[in-house]
Amino acid sequence: MVAKKKAGGQTGKSSFVKQGFFVALLVGAGFSAGLLFQGKARGASHGGSDMIRRFSEEAAMREERATLAQLQNTVAQEVLDKSSVGALLQEAPASETGPEAEGGPAETGDLPMTSQTDQMDQAGTSADVTNGDGGAADVTTPRPAGPAPRTGKPFQVDQDAPRRSATALQMHLGCTNCCNDGSENGPCFDVEECAAGVSGGRYAFVYAHVGVPGWPWLTFLDSMRAQALLLEEATGGIVDIVVMMPASDIKDLGCHQRALVHNYGIRMYEVPWTIPPNSWYPDYWWPGKADGWCGPQDLMRLHALGMDEYNAVVFYDQDVEFQGDMTAVLKCAAKGYFLSASGGVGEPFNVGFFALRPDKRLLRAAEYFGGNVTFTVETGWGKCGFRPSGNKFVGAECGQGFFHTLFYKKCKPVQKALVAAGLHDASGKAHLHLESEMIDRCIWNYQNDGDCGGNPRFNCSVIRVHHKPTAKPDNDRLCGKLKHHHGGWSGEPRAPFLPPLPAPVQGQSTSCIPACVDAGNNCICNNPVPPAHHIKNVTVSQKLVHCQTQVKSPSNDRFEVKISGPSQLTVTRVDAPSCWCDAVTVECCVQN
Ligand SMILES: *[C@@H]1O[C@H](CO)[C@@H](O)[C@H](O)[C@H]1NC(C)=O
Ligand SMILES: *[C@@H]1O[C@H](CO)[C@@H](O)[C@H](O)[C@H]1NC(C)=O
Ligand SMILES: *[C@@H]1O[C@H](CO)[C@@H](O)[C@H](O)[C@H]1NC(C)=O
Repeated sequence: MVAKKKAGGQTGKSSFVKQGFFVALLVGAGFSAGLLFQGKARGASHGGSDMIRRFSEEAAMREERATLAQLQNTVAQEVLDKSSVGALLQEAPASETGPEAEGGPAETGDLPMTSQTDQMDQAGTSADVTNGDGGAADVTTPRPAGPAPRTGKPFQVDQDAPRRSATALQMHLGCTNCCNDGSENGPCFDVEECAAGVSGGRYAFVYAHVGVPGWPWLTFLDSMRAQALLLEEATGGIVDIVVMMPASDIKDLGCHQRALVHNYGIRMYEVPWTIPPNSWYPDYWWPGKADGWCGPQDLMRLHALGMDEYNAVVFYDQDVEFQGDMTAVLKCAAKGYFLSASGGVGEPFNVGFFALRPDKRLLRAAEYFGGNVTFTVETGWGKCGFRPSGNKFVGAECGQGFFHTLFYKKCKPVQKALVAAGLHDASGKAHLHLESEMIDRCIWNYQNDGDCGGNPRFNCSVIRVHHKPTAKPDNDRLCGKLKHHHGGWSGEPRAPFLPPLPAPVQGQSTSCIPACVDAGNNCICNNPVPPAHHIKNVTVSQKLVHCQTQVKSPSNDRFEVKISGPSQLTVTRVDAPSCWCDAVTVECCVQN
């Protein structure tokens, strides 16, 4: 693919996360950004140990966040009026938003967490809030740290930038030969050298989730956020964290998950399909079936190909932990590369990580390819084969094979899809400059790689991105997550998240703070006689002002919620008169 996209030629649609929300985020981010600057001033390298130190500093920062929460209670209330979740819900299909709407299967109910006061029972009291657009401009109280509006420098490549030396590749720190071009294994691409000269731009770290997530969720988000801030600092650009999900699952996000989305400023990205329209699926699976085939969870991430409001995006599985500076991956991808790494059990491609400069036509090509080919265990996708693997590899029938074929193979069906999508012309001339390369998985996507094939120069601290093992390593040669890092980080294993910031609800006659009330389970299932175990009373220590009226659990059980006393909730399972064993969390507004 040729025809260079103009430098800085990103199409500039801003993410729909509302500005007001960013004010809140930036107040929070200010602390971490400060830490990053300090890290630099001390001349520390961005190696693994540096990141580890930074994480402990972030842990200390939690204290400050608690203080910040207090500040937010008194300052800048309207900032919280437009959380990303709030924005999201305004964009969601507008059915059944009234509190009296009955039994819609996916009704999200009231949303105290996001201050959608006009949707609440006491809506009448919030006279000063119109359309959730409550005057974010007339803030009169001074804010701490005076966050600037979120603007970034435009994307630029300095062609004369000095070449990077002493890169991980040049120092032979990794596997160096575990990369392939779609047919042969060979040397890896030097992503750090490629990254030289890039400044400005918009970038995204992308996660995907199919189904209603449980809790905890996105347990390595802190380490991702540290990278996002590092990249913003290094480029002067803007970096988003994005979670793509099917719309129906976004609607059912639980209270803790929503608080997380809000507090971390995550951009929720609704996707229209999880497998490309009219695409092949195995005969033991059918659309809508929750398990049995890894296609939906893998192929949904194809949507990242089309996110061309960003100069580069990088996708990661949720079990990936960032242990060192990996920002070169995004800077390099923005120059017009598709980057990935091979897999730890002999697969030529691991679908848990890829980066690219997105283009809508790439997504279209993926749809055409998906819609026109089938998979067989003998010949792979579109009869393009499995090389350099000798035969069907792990995940070949899902994303690992699909992506590897589409981006690394030059067979007929791939070419046809590229031409049809306008990426190539019929003579093979490319309209889009995009090169597919592979980078060293020991460094950029470590997956049970032990000592990286016996490389004496390799040790755990050269890993930038750690994927597997997720559990404590069962032998000394294996590198673990930071909390298991021998010789590395020595602090307490970090708790995954901050508790949600208590956010004030504006315009209530009685002020209350949003809270996630854990109603727990009611797993009393072997008693067929009354009392019915589909109803549970839950007593809390605070006074309940109001709560969402309907909620779904991660296993898709549906519940109706009523306040049945000053501090009592009654939770009733409504999809079946039955017990439930997955914890239910209810979003409420409470008073102490
Ligand atoms: C198959 O590919 C052609 C272009 O070659 C495209 O027009 C068509 O929509 C594709 N079919 C499906 C079902 O995607
Ligand atoms: C790990 O490797 C790096 C880079 O080669 C080196 O600087 C560091 O001292 C090594 N650490 C240990 C604990 O061997
Ligand atoms: C829940 O509490 C209400 C009173 O508020 C009571 O009438 C009802 O029987 C209780 N239900 C259960 C299942 O304990």
